[in-house]
Amino acid sequence: MSHLQSSHLFSVNGLVVVLTGGGSGLGRTMATALAVNGASKVFILGRREDALKETAAQHPGTIIPVPADVTSKASLEAAYATISAQTDYVNVLIANSGIEGPAARMPPANADGSPPTLAQIRDHLWAIPSEDFTKTLDVNVTGAYYTILAFLPLLEAANKRRPAPQKNVMSPPLAQVIITSSIAGFSRKVPAGISYNMSKAAVNHLVKLLSTFFSEYGIRVNGIAPGLYHSDMSSRNFAEGDKGVSDGSFSHDAIPITRGGSDEDIAGLTLFLASASGGYINGNIMLTDGGRLAVMPAAY
Ligand SMILES: NC(=O)c1ccc[n+]([C@@H]2O[C@H](COP(=O)([O-])OP(=O)(O)OC[C@H]3O[C@@H](n4cnc5c(N)ncnc54)[C@H](OP(=O)(O)O)[C@@H]3O)[C@@H](O)[C@H]2O)c1
Repeated sequence: MSHLQSSHLFSVNGLVVVLTGGGSGLGRTMATALAVNGASKVFILGRREDALKETAAQHPGTIIPVPADVTSKASLEAAYATISAQTDYVNVLIANSGIEGPAARMPPANADGSPPTLAQIRDHLWAIPSEDFTKTLDVNVTGAYYTILAFLPLLEAANKRRPAPQKNVMSPPLAQVIITSSIAGFSRKVPAGISYNMSKAAVNHLVKLLSTFFSEYGIRVNGIAPGLYHSDMSSRNFAEGDKGVSDGSFSHDAIPITRGGSDEDIAGLTLFLASASGGYINGNIMLTDGGRLAVMPAAY
């Protein structure tokens, strides 16, 4: 087999993966794509055991549910103990859990078309409990951070299993962390709440920080920044029963390729990053948004 055949380039055969938020949405698709393509174990974390079990039911024995709350260090420790009893190493850790948080956005225009006054803006944003605001950062940023810290020993163990280098033969990929960010981390105009946008900007910096911190330990850190994909979190942007993946689902002004992200889009990107084809990627945040970030409409 040529080393340039896609079956070699994009192979995830035998990989051990830990993935948070595997009970739904993008995480479920990523877990399934890894399992379908030969990953040996995909441990999925999330708070809802039923949702995790539903993902795992398609690939029993390969996708393994591990109930956990990423905002609790004790819960992450327990998940680590459960997983380290079942594997000696983890090749890829995907910190994908996230919440949208409160709708901390500018209030709409007044009935007469006048923009909200500063007093109206203050009242509107002040009414949101600061605990709700901070919770977004707890899950999306701090949760991802502690998830990564928790699994460092198993990532290091994956690197120790790599074969000795052979001259003129590419070595297998180093262990990798992937964090799910968002185009909200780059744009001031994504109409999620302020706390969500802030959290994803922090996630982008976390990717950069950790890829630098861990560079001398051979652990790569990358990010994925989706635009609009149908999921529990994003469903209000889609018509009832429509996943929005066919051309013409959105206007060119909203998403230049006129559709939302599909299972294939996120699965393909996951396989690329996790396999030998992505082995030279480090400190990178991959946009997968059909060009949406480039044409974001006016703020809120
Ligand atoms: N869909 C999009 O258009 C889009 C765009 C940009 C970025 N993203 C990002 O993609 C990631 C996945 O979101 P999604 O769209 O797939 O939405 P989703 O279906 O709502 O998935 C979010 C996942 O996060 C998990 N989660 C939330 N809080 C958690 C906690 N405290 N501990 C452990 N897990 C927790 C949830 O599981 P439990 O509730 O069971 O805990 C759920 O499975 C998120 O980081 C999101 O910000 C999505």
